[in-house]
Amino acid sequence: MEKEGTEMVEETEHMIVKNGAKDPQNAISASDSKEMRAVVLTGFGGLNKLKVTKKPMPEPQEGEVKIRVKACGLNFLDLMVRQGNIDNPPKTPLVPGFECSGIVESMGENASGFEIGDRVMAFVNYSAWAEVVCTPVDWVYKIPDEMTFPEAAAFCVNFVAAYMMLFEVANLREGMSVLVHSAGGGVGQAVTQLCATVPNVTIFGTASPFKHEAIRHYVTHLLDRNADYVAEVRKISPEGVDIVLDCLCGENTGKGLGLLKPLGTYILYGSSNMVTGETKSFFSFAKSWWQVEKVNPIKLYEENKVMAGFSLLSLLFKQGGCSQVKTAVQALLNLYNHKKIKPLVDSLWALEEVKEAMQRIHDRGNIGKLILDMEKSPTPLVGHMKKTIVTLGCEHTNILTMYI
Ligand SMILES: NC(=O)c1ccc[n+]([C@@H]2O[C@H](COP(=O)([O-])OP(=O)(O)OC[C@H]3O[C@@H](n4cnc5c(N)ncnc54)[C@H](OP(=O)(O)O)[C@@H]3O)[C@@H](O)[C@H]2O)c1
Repeated sequence: MEKEGTEMVEETEHMIVKNGAKDPQNAISASDSKEMRAVVLTGFGGLNKLKVTKKPMPEPQEGEVKIRVKACGLNFLDLMVRQGNIDNPPKTPLVPGFECSGIVESMGENASGFEIGDRVMAFVNYSAWAEVVCTPVDWVYKIPDEMTFPEAAAFCVNFVAAYMMLFEVANLREGMSVLVHSAGGGVGQAVTQLCATVPNVTIFGTASPFKHEAIRHYVTHLLDRNADYVAEVRKISPEGVDIVLDCLCGENTGKGLGLLKPLGTYILYGSSNMVTGETKSFFSFAKSWWQVEKVNPIKLYEENKVMAGFSLLSLLFKQGGCSQVKTAVQALLNLYNHKKIKPLVDSLWALEEVKEAMQRIHDRGNIGKLILDMEKSPTPLVGHMKKTIVTLGCEHTNILTMYI
């Protein structure tokens, strides 16, 4: 990860002047530039810890690709990183972000397989939310001609995680049933689309009620996220389900496990419930881990249940799972090319609007993925609008769409 110590910190929040790199006339001067814009997390905490600053231009090290970024994915995990709500958080200041799409600008020594100008998407181990990113060549993938940069930035984390959980861990097959929480979110949408590629899969999905109309065609049985989902699933399917995907790690572990049919698989893959406000809640953190530890392993074998955990970023960044991830990406690109899946982009945000974008996730407002779009200008906000957007709940969606 890059060192931040000597950088010039120049906050450019809601900077209206657009960066010249977009203009082909300025492309050469942009690539010659010694600086770039990036989002910097100055310390763990609330939205005010995010700044847009100028940073030194990174250059590719051995085995790396330098990418001129067009779009970056904003994940729920980024909220947790901002709060310092993850295991072994890295030191701040840091540039957040785990995925981006863009154009190959140069290659480091011993990096091959790409040409300058290739359209690509990439995993990045932090530092994705910047105009230029350098990342190992093994984490970079060419994108199909018809895939837009925002779609590509919405692809890697959500679809690979969904694919590996369904097909590698849970072995999803014809006729099975799946329960997924936050069915309208980034991973949720990827899960429901991938389930639809297998015949006769029944999908139970929880989501905030205002999303139901928009995602109705992806989910067989939609449930209110506030409802007693165990009771609701049992009403429809008394025998339970084959696969439970739980991103509310801890809060509902016992409930989800109890819903499994014999030989069913329960996968923990997130801990959204630990986010209870803008900053980290130690109470929620402790409660989640206490609940998880209450699962009795002896009961698992007596009841023929499989309990699994899945973390794509650990697999890729810490456990050397690059080849498994590559296989998954290839299968997913094949599905994309056959028009079986398509990333659902909720909204595009300028780099300088990262706080508002994050607030939208806190407010549970997104349907699909939020994208930081390098080519988007920040929306000029007059005083009262700025306040309204930050303080209102999901309703701010409507306000935003009026002005973006
Ligand atoms: N293990 C992995 O490899 C992996 C990879 C990617 C993501 N994840 C995990 O998967 C989950 C979903 O990630 P995502 O990036 O796709 O995000 P997302 O689902 O788009 O996240 C936003 C949605 O989460 C729901 N939500 C649940 N608890 C919430 C809370 N406390 N605060 C705000 N919203 C909450 C809301 O939907 P409703 O109100 O409709 O429920 C909200 O709209 C996260 O837990 C994330 O950490 C895991």
